[in-house]
Amino acid sequence: MSRSVNVGILGTGSIFRAYAAGIATLPELTVTRVADVDLERARTAAAEFGIPAAGTTEELLADDDVEIVVNITPPAVHAPLNEAALRAGKHVYTEKPLAATTELARANLVTATETGRTLGGAPDTFLGTAGQTARAAIDDGLIGTPFAATSFVRSSRVQAWHPSPGFFFQAGGGPVLDWGPYHVAALVNLLGPVRDVMGANAMAEKELAVTAPERTVESVPVEVPTHATSILRFDSGVLATVMYSFDVWDTELPHLEIYGTGGTLSLPDPNTFDRPVRIKRRGDTEWSELPAVTEAKAPATGPFRGLGVLDLARHLDGGPHRASGDFAFHVLDVLERMSLASPESGALTVLSSVKRPAPLDRP
Ligand SMILES: NC(=O)c1ccc[n+]([C@@H]2O[C@H](COP(=O)([O-])OP(=O)(O)OC[C@H]3O[C@@H](n4cnc5c(N)ncnc54)[C@H](O)[C@@H]3O)[C@@H](O)[C@H]2O)c1
Repeated sequence: MSRSVNVGILGTGSIFRAYAAGIATLPELTVTRVADVDLERARTAAAEFGIPAAGTTEELLADDDVEIVVNITPPAVHAPLNEAALRAGKHVYTEKPLAATTELARANLVTATETGRTLGGAPDTFLGTAGQTARAAIDDGLIGTPFAATSFVRSSRVQAWHPSPGFFFQAGGGPVLDWGPYHVAALVNLLGPVRDVMGANAMAEKELAVTAPERTVESVPVEVPTHATSILRFDSGVLATVMYSFDVWDTELPHLEIYGTGGTLSLPDPNTFDRPVRIKRRGDTEWSELPAVTEAKAPATGPFRGLGVLDLARHLDGGPHRASGDFAFHVLDVLERMSLASPESGALTVLSSVKRPAPLDRP
């Protein structure tokens, strides 16, 4: 890209630092303004990262210098803020889930079309070396024909580190909508769209003590299921066995594995970018690490975000849109079916579909 695109960040809470620090490493993006309902928080955040302007949402949306709005507010307000930003003429990259429901997310996609603006959404972790290396391995036939997958999330123990974890346990949260996006985005990137979902949901506890050292609340009510188990059937016929839970405190299950006729791929936590992908092909006696097919962007330690915003900026410059609104919508659609599935409902059809995003160029 020949220019740097100006970005305004809406929401300066827990994940803000990962965005501000991550985007600072990407010369094609510049954060020029931040906003938050908590003005003091916005000002402190701007000062910490040398961002020139901080203020209200209205000021951010009225700022002609801001081309892309990055929406990192809680899930319940994603949709109205996406809507307002698109109507204000901004391109939008929103944190996951795209919106709290597919109905709200669909309205955002319609607004993007009406306004001629582009909507993109998290997660962008599948753009890291692990997602791209696994994708290349599948496309190159290293494990033969994929026929099954497993995808497991144990508790993120959010009550032990997030100062105000209430939204993780309310509508728009829960393990399916909070962690599911990383896994389902990784799976759709590797295996294509999901056709239908069977499953069931449960809740182990109705109230949780918050133990985070900087907590602002002592306990949070649990308002959504915190344990989900499903079978996802892909258009290709691949069957994924899935368990996403906030209740399983720990487990030795793998994060994500893809099983093919010629071998198995073992992926790292899909909420990370650049960790190794391992393979064991039919006949191998040992697992081996695949060489990364793309350049690592995320630091080895510490949280990092920004590749999805870069993907959107490059798309505005004529490139493919990978972490697109349509992709995030399909992921949300699958996750919503997971949340609604029960033995009584039988299989729930996923009505949306999406092509696998273009792989990143291999150097
Ligand atoms: N915390 C994480 O580790 C993490 C990781 C990846 C993604 N996410 C996603 O990022 C988003 C934000 O998560 P978080 O943990 O930073 O939340 P948070 O509650 O810590 O921060 C959200 C911020 O948004 C502000 N806000 C709320 N409503 C607003 C409004 N109407 N207008 C402007 N500002 C508003 C709040 O004041 C707060 O500062 C969520 O969608 C979450 O799923 C979080």
